[in-house]
Amino acid sequence: MHKPLEGQIALVTGASSGIGFGVAQALADAGASVAINYHSHGAPADKLAADIEQCGGHAFAIGANVANESEIDAMFDAVTQRFGTIDIVVANSGLQKDAPFADMTLDDWHTVMNVNLAGQFLTAQRAVREFLRRGPRPVSKALGKIICMSSVHEIIPWAGHVNYAASKGGIQMMMKSLAQEVAPQRIRVNSIAPGAIRTPINKEAWDSEDALQKLLKLVPYGRIGEVDDIGRAAVWLASDESDYVVGTTLFVDGGMTLYPGFAGNG
Ligand code: BGC
Repeated sequence: MHKPLEGQIALVTGASSGIGFGVAQALADAGASVAINYHSHGAPADKLAADIEQCGGHAFAIGANVANESEIDAMFDAVTQRFGTIDIVVANSGLQKDAPFADMTLDDWHTVMNVNLAGQFLTAQRAVREFLRRGPRPVSKALGKIICMSSVHEIIPWAGHVNYAASKGGIQMMMKSLAQEVAPQRIRVNSIAPGAIRTPINKEAWDSEDALQKLLKLVPYGRIGEVDDIGRAAVWLASDESDYVVGTTLFVDGGMTLYPGFAGNG
């Protein structure tokens, strides 16, 4: 099997469950050595690392809160000590703290902004520093690749989720501005914007037949996404196959951003 990421080293934040877990698995299947970051749930991250190693890959789990600068530094040190450097960083950690706007606390606001936006800022910044420090490597045309995990909610407004949608809107311009800044150094920065993917974050939107049918009204393609849909997109964006893709958001959403409410309406 062709392994497009053979010899490359990846770090995926928030990889103990959901999309991050699927992305870490997909990068490992594509031949990358993978550092699997987790915040509070070490056991599934350790298990994923053990499974990857058992299949002949290289992986280890590393705890860090991405919103904490010294923990981010310690994590990058640990990854470079273990694997030598980093070629691919997937800034994926994210959470929701939903509430009607009138009830949303400042703490709900800060928690989401700190993890989803400041966490990606810190992760991407350390990645850029490491790419520049070590210079080019024969394993990749780009000096390094950063993938920001955004959401369809970087463009779709979302009542009851103002903090989350604001954080993803922020990721859109952070990614593009950073991509513009570091492209001359041959660092490629892009985002993936997933739609409704079957993960714990949106369990209540798919775990009953009623909820699922309601959700599917928002998805022209007629199925919920799986983490592997995002994993395959991440492998492509991290590989030389997408070497001319710079500063783009790749929507992987079954058409959720096509305004399906307008089909036969308006
Ligand atoms: C959210 C999910 C939601 C999906 C589509 C994602 O960014 O985290 O909860 O189902 O967007 O609305």
